[in-house]
Amino acid sequence: MSANSRGPHVRVEPLGVTFEAPPELTLLEAAGFAGIRLPRMCRNGTCRTCLCRVTSGEVRFTIEWPGLSREEKAEGYVLTCVAVALTDLVLDVPDASIA
Ligand code: FES
Repeated sequence: MSANSRGPHVRVEPLGVTFEAPPELTLLEAAGFAGIRLPRMCRNGTCRTCLCRVTSGEVRFTIEWPGLSREEKAEGYVLTCVAVALTDLVLDVPDASIA
C-alpha cells in the first residue's frame, strides 16, 4: 500500500459520505477521525449500539466472537467498533451524522 493510499474507502449510506479506513483502525475509529459520527457506546463489541449492515465489501473483526448471531453475520451485519475494512465497503447506517 503506498503512502497515498491509506486504506479502503468506506461509503456511509444514506448520509452519502466516504472515509478512508486504514487497517490499524476500526471502522468506528476511522469514521471518527474523518468527522463522521456513527452510533456507539461500549466500543468493545458487546452493547450492539453500533450494529449496522455492510451492503458491499468485506471486514474482519478484532475480537474472536463479536456480539453477532450466525444469521446476522450471514446477512452482513457488523459491529463497527470491532470491525476493520478488508476491502472498499458500503455501510448502511441510518443514524450516522456529520460530527
Ligand atoms: S459500540 Fe458497543 S458493540 Fe460497538
